[in-house]
Amino acid sequence: MNVLIIGSGGREHAMVKKTAESPRVKELYCAPGNPGMAGVCTCVDIKQDDIEGLARFAKAQAIDLTIVGPELPLTLGIVDVFKEKGLLIFGPDRRASILEGSKIFTKEFSKKYSIPTAAFETFDDAARAVAFLDSLKKYPVVIKADGLASGKGVIIAKDHDEAVSAVRDMMIDKNFGTAGQKILIEDYINGHEASFIVVSDGKHFSEFSSSQDHKRLLDNDLGPNTGGMGAFAPATLVTPRLREKIINTIIRPTLTGMEKEGRPYTGFLYAGVMVDEGGEPLLLEYNCRLGDPEAEVILPLLKSDFIDFVMHSLDGTLKQYQPAFHEGSAVCVVLASQGYPAAYQTGFEISGLDSVTDPDCFVFHAGTATRNGRYITNGGRVLTVTARGDDLCAAVKRVYQNTEKIYWQGVHYRRDIAQKGLNVSA
Ligand code: GLY
Repeated sequence: MNVLIIGSGGREHAMVKKTAESPRVKELYCAPGNPGMAGVCTCVDIKQDDIEGLARFAKAQAIDLTIVGPELPLTLGIVDVFKEKGLLIFGPDRRASILEGSKIFTKEFSKKYSIPTAAFETFDDAARAVAFLDSLKKYPVVIKADGLASGKGVIIAKDHDEAVSAVRDMMIDKNFGTAGQKILIEDYINGHEASFIVVSDGKHFSEFSSSQDHKRLLDNDLGPNTGGMGAFAPATLVTPRLREKIINTIIRPTLTGMEKEGRPYTGFLYAGVMVDEGGEPLLLEYNCRLGDPEAEVILPLLKSDFIDFVMHSLDGTLKQYQPAFHEGSAVCVVLASQGYPAAYQTGFEISGLDSVTDPDCFVFHAGTATRNGRYITNGGRVLTVTARGDDLCAAVKRVYQNTEKIYWQGVHYRRDIAQKGLNVSA
């Protein structure tokens, strides 16, 4: 098969690596891809939101299967356009990807289908939102922009002033563009987050290993929110009992609900789950793609052929399919530029990549470029180092042994990735 993967981050590098391992794949392309993928696939200079350009390329190169990495092309309707042109593509169509495209849709859908989630109110008028905040007795509170906001549209406001300022930011100053025209204000839930990612064929699903992301910049979950500074899988927090609950109260009702709504869901479905202090799972949000950096731990744990997995979803045969997984755990550490997630400089030469030779360790590129045949930094999140191990402790040890070999001026990474998983299992 000729396969095209869309996207350019660490998640897509992990998808490219796993796809390249499939004996079913003849030619492999990534658009736009990144320099770390060279040698494994051909990178094509077409942007992820140039849907017509991507479709023209897929036709011209006789692409048999396209797999979409990021949410933007999905919410723009790439699946609908490719299907109209007779091109096979993996991901939810525009009507189904609303689960990520509109937080208000997902909250109202959750209420309709009794999916546990935090109590919420919706607003399309700033004055009404502020009046509601004036009447609130309990803080913190969570303010969410309705639409896609590049992962920045969720603010945890610790008091009334912070909440009013978030509402102003979104609705009056329009700092999130159209995404902040409507907002949600929801109860803050104390607990721990887990990522539960499945592949759905519209009726049935098959799950990846559960995982946990580390969203804050600094150790001990301090500092600003980022796109994710590291992850581990499986999530120690997700016990067999909790897994059953997530499946029965969140995943199954979502898939049947979406079918009833005339929005059958095919593709990766990523439930962000909050496990509250009583151990009960609540749906925080849905993403219609693999998580980043979660993909960099769950794909290396998948033993089965990734393309088989995807094709079972597209053929509607997931009910009969049981993917195999490696025993043990995987941990990844994101290496970022100094200053990220605020302003940062790029163009620093990266050293030490050649010293990572451990067969159970992988380096995925995200924000890199090349200069005179050498890799340089070219983004906020630059690289992700992943290691597998017989258990979480071994994976942590291996990932840091290898991360420490990589250097550039100002490199920053957390030293405590997966520590929360070790603490749970202790
Ligand atoms: N890990 C968070 C995300 O992919 O949205």
